[in-house]
Amino acid sequence: MSSFEPLVFSGVQPTGNLTLGNYLGAIRKFVALQESHNCIYCVVDLHALTVNPKPQELIDGTRSIAAAFLAAGIDPVKHIVFNQSRVYQHAELAWIFNCVARMGWLNRMTQFKEKAGKDRENASVGLFAYPNLMAADILVYRGTHVPVGEDQKQHLELARDIAQKFNNDYSERIGDLGLGVPVQVGDETVNGFFPLTEPLIEGPATRIMSLRDGTKKMSKSDPSDLSRINLTDTADDIAKKIRKAKTDPEALPSETAGLAERPEANNLVGIYAALADTTKEAVLNEFGGQQFSAFKPALADLAVTKLSPIAEEMRRLMTDTAHIDSVLANGAERASVLAEKTLADVKRIVGLLA
Ligand code: TYM
Repeated sequence: MSSFEPLVFSGVQPTGNLTLGNYLGAIRKFVALQESHNCIYCVVDLHALTVNPKPQELIDGTRSIAAAFLAAGIDPVKHIVFNQSRVYQHAELAWIFNCVARMGWLNRMTQFKEKAGKDRENASVGLFAYPNLMAADILVYRGTHVPVGEDQKQHLELARDIAQKFNNDYSERIGDLGLGVPVQVGDETVNGFFPLTEPLIEGPATRIMSLRDGTKKMSKSDPSDLSRINLTDTADDIAKKIRKAKTDPEALPSETAGLAERPEANNLVGIYAALADTTKEAVLNEFGGQQFSAFKPALADLAVTKLSPIAEEMRRLMTDTAHIDSVLANGAERASVLAEKTLADVKRIVGLLA
């Protein structure tokens, strides 16, 4: 336990359509955490640059993620919603972290290996250094809790490693400047400047899988649109995609143990549980023994009921881009004040004259 002020931070990249995976794994949790925490939610447009989007797509994508945040129920007045590039301290702290993180740490990142594929020589340097910018996003606010899906776990471990190395490397100076906060490292309490951020990855929807292949993550970048439910899909699209979702010929089991070797069944039950705000056990209590021909229409109805109002509100918000832009600008102004304070301290710690 650290004695940092609890603060939730998370981000979503404006690349491609938001999927049900993004919603259930992340955005829905962002909404819930507003009740108990101060929250900062960011559209990470600088991260999107790592895959070289077309400029207009980046602009539209940024607005559409912001619209999704608002449509899902994030309150940009009580909390902070903004786009990353407006707060330049993220990029500045990321540079400092480029000099803290080790090549070996980044070489282990599975997401880089996946995204770069076989042609690593041709991947952007930004794609490689991506997790350092992600650590900067969180730590520029000294964020303590980060709601994400399972696929971001390794990146968050790296953010902890960076925080810990920074705290160690500069521990004396942090103490001398009176900037230390007690941070628990194993059994020891040390004076640190950055918290060791805790990932919030829990519930039945930490890894939503493709509707076409239960062993692959549902992703914005899958070439098959049938593999995912997009937040902006119509009710008909949602129903069709669920109807066509790959399954096996067995009936649903009545215990979760029966889902073990059945990735597609496990995925659909997980989606139902997350949408209904319940557990897989409860879903199987209700549907155990039934065929997919009965379960799929129930799932489609539930998905449409939960997602359609969000899609509708997103569409409405997207007709007023001036409003979205002003929400983002206002959030950025408030975020900048916090980020600037951290950067000023970091510069004193590392010895950059300011
Ligand atoms: P991104 O934009 O790929 O995804 C946004 C969020 O959605 C979650 N997610 C999923 N959860 C469950 N099942 C899925 N199939 C699924 N697909 C995506 C992701 O885990 C994520 O929480 N690097 C991050 C963005 C980022 C960030 C940050 C996150 C940048 N800086 C700081 C937290 C803190 C990313 O690319 O997420």
